[in-house]
Amino acid sequence: MPFHNTLFVSLVSTILLGYTNIWYNIDIRGLRCENDNSPDFPSEVSENSANTVIVLEAGASGFDNPNIANLSGPSIQALPLTSVDWNYTSIPQKYAANQTIQMTRGHVLGGSSAVNGAVFVRPNAIDIDLWETAFGATGWNWQTVSASIKKAEHFSATDNVTSYLSFHGTSGPICDSQRTPGVIWSEGVIPSVLASGGQTSIDQNGGNPSGIWYTPKAMFPNSTRSYSANSYYLPNAGRSNLEVILDVTVSRILWGKSKNGKAVATGVEYINTITGKTSTVSGDRIILSAGVFGTPQVLELSGVGNPKIMNPLGISTVVNLPAVGENLAEQPTTKYVATLASGYTNAGLQLTLNYESPRTLLTPLEWLEAWELLQVAPPNLSAASHAALIAMYLADSVIVEFMGFPNPADLIFLPILLHPMSRGSSHIVSANATHAPSFDLALLESPFDVYILKKAAIRARRFASQSYMKPFLAGEVSPGTAVQTDAQFEAFVKSAVGVAYHPLGTASFGSVVDSTLRVMGTTNVFVVDGSIIPTEPGSHPSSIIYGIGEQAATMLNARPLSSDV
Ligand SMILES: Cc1cc2nc3c(=O)[nH]c(=O)nc-3n(C[C@H](O)[C@H](O)[C@H](O)COP(=O)(O)OP(=O)(O)OC[C@H]3O[C@@H](n4cnc5c(N)ncnc54)[C@H](O)[C@@H]3O)c2cc1C
Ligand SMILES: *[C@@H]1O[C@H](CO)[C@@H](O)[C@H](O)[C@H]1NC(C)=O
Ligand SMILES: *[C@@H]1O[C@H](CO)[C@@H](O)[C@H](O)[C@H]1NC(C)=O
Ligand SMILES: *[C@@H]1O[C@H](CO)[C@@H](O)[C@H](O)[C@H]1NC(C)=O
Ligand SMILES: *[C@@H]1O[C@H](CO)[C@@H](O)[C@H](O)[C@H]1NC(C)=O
Ligand SMILES: *[C@@H]1O[C@H](CO)[C@@H](O)[C@H](O)[C@H]1NC(C)=O
Ligand SMILES: *[C@@H]1O[C@H](CO)[C@@H](O)[C@H](O)[C@H]1NC(C)=O
Ligand SMILES: *[C@@H]1O[C@H](CO)[C@@H](O)[C@H](O)[C@H]1NC(C)=O
Repeated sequence: MPFHNTLFVSLVSTILLGYTNIWYNIDIRGLRCENDNSPDFPSEVSENSANTVIVLEAGASGFDNPNIANLSGPSIQALPLTSVDWNYTSIPQKYAANQTIQMTRGHVLGGSSAVNGAVFVRPNAIDIDLWETAFGATGWNWQTVSASIKKAEHFSATDNVTSYLSFHGTSGPICDSQRTPGVIWSEGVIPSVLASGGQTSIDQNGGNPSGIWYTPKAMFPNSTRSYSANSYYLPNAGRSNLEVILDVTVSRILWGKSKNGKAVATGVEYINTITGKTSTVSGDRIILSAGVFGTPQVLELSGVGNPKIMNPLGISTVVNLPAVGENLAEQPTTKYVATLASGYTNAGLQLTLNYESPRTLLTPLEWLEAWELLQVAPPNLSAASHAALIAMYLADSVIVEFMGFPNPADLIFLPILLHPMSRGSSHIVSANATHAPSFDLALLESPFDVYILKKAAIRARRFASQSYMKPFLAGEVSPGTAVQTDAQFEAFVKSAVGVAYHPLGTASFGSVVDSTLRVMGTTNVFVVDGSIIPTEPGSHPSSIIYGIGEQAATMLNARPLSSDV
């Protein structure tokens, strides 16, 4: 098998850890975001030529796919169920009318950052601080993670939208900016949110996202997608100590002689998805960035997980770690859709997000009702996660997002529950790496989740009923005027549940990885992706995951490889 004396094997993802890891320290004059005077990347530092990196990606490159580049609604909606999607489907959701959920995940270089909605936003500071205080992730808190996100970001203030430049990075690889979405928002939705007791935000990225704002998206000045494959990798593709192998599915980690009772990985095995041929590659450090379904899948295929799941499939236990694949969280959504009055259109690229906290969403009596429901943990919610959710509620961390989509003929203002209590799981059902894992999102298992989402659905209608909206709307499509009572809203929320496509948590801090991101019970296997995030933050996750990648790169670069093997 090919040998690399200091080899990083990484499954490519949003993070593309290999690139940040090796090249963040040198002058990479990558793609520039114009319209501002941000400094160049540091130019006086040298490359760590000791490291060689191999990235193994199951999908193809995607660079020739126009629907990845174009962030317009029709282009993004054309991506699911094509070759760039893993085509995952959940098991029937018992608490949500037995619906199955089609869970889009990027199967392409760049992972889900190639197929996502590109919203670039951060949560309340406490949501990240709890990683350290509730889950024991030493060194991972708002201060460090938000600084790491800034390293990834190249923000350009555009279209006269007010923002605080100090909340943003201005020299990182991922470009982000805003576009103004037109009068439906400036004269209709924003005044309606204010008239309903909401507030405006000047910038949602400083540790408190409350309020409505034209939230930035990860895009270049020409409005095409800026994501890990074209912003971290492409500018550095010529590096001689970097290799990307496409169209290969990692099937398992290979293990050597254990050291002090800990498993030591020596490389990985992978299957070429075109030829079906199996190969191996050796390495000193294995970095799993295979995402919330892929990372626990590879761990279980490699004997790291719950013996009760692995052993019946013929996989012997290497590390007994039952938390692998558990703690799967997802943000459930409901619908608010109204048809636009004739003469109005809501086309364009801008997403307009309104974040509400328990105290703006709920009346004092409702706050207490929800508080009571919050005390009852669903079966698979860990004590640490339960304590974290209570802390977020008491700190008035934002709990619902209303996401304004551009859609030519409709006003869509989608309510998303940000801090669900429900927890599902994702596990292998076959020792064959090409067979998809089976997963349960346990959507709306917790009565707290149902309660908050129902209040959000009611509030969305309240926005649309304000006088400011009258000129713009022709009529409500969803939930529809037949839905009026509390019970009808509850039934609607369960029958029309959707997801934000933000699953997290299946290789969480404190139960699968330690604060160095090392998989417990191993010396040299690390996880660097959304799986490590222990509980849903009050935002979209990609900015946080880029921050994790930057922070992990700094941390791993500072550790001599010899300390792991
Ligand atoms: C439709 C959609 C819309 C979204 N909208 C937003 C948004 O607007 N803003 C936001 O912040 N977030 C959004 N997200 C979420 C965000 O994109 C993800 O949370 C993030 O990209 C996850 O990053 P990750 O590194 O954890 O995993 P991924 O990006 O999913 O990366 C996993 C990678 O590993 C590869 N892989 C998996 N298994 C194997 C294997 N066995 N062998 C080899 N390779 C493997 C995959 O092909 C993929 O490239 C959205 C997601 C989707 C799907
Ligand atoms: C993206 O596609 C839309 C049509 O859906 C088109 O109007 C727009 O010009 C495209 N944008 C870019 C940057 O190619
Ligand atoms: C997803 O489904 C599409 C359409 O059937 C198919 O072309 C594609 O190969 C599938 N993706 C994967 C990863 O199998
Ligand atoms: C969901 O399916 C289960 C098992 O088939 C069934 O018992 C239950 O009644 C169904 N629930 C709904 C709401 O359809
Ligand atoms: C920004 O403001 C300037 C000065 O008021 C104005 O000339 C310009 O047209 C505005 N640009 C946009 C995109 O609104
Ligand atoms: C948009 O800008 C990016 C970054 O500069 C560039 O790579 C891309 O080719 C451009 N796309 C179009 C359609 O102009
Ligand atoms: C809860 O966890 C158990 C194992 O700990 C698992 O068997 C079960 O499927 C989980 N429930 C859900 C909804 O994921
Ligand atoms: C794994 O599953 C695939 C698809 O079902 C099949 O083609 C392949 O032969 C299987 N591999 C093994 C080793 O059984």
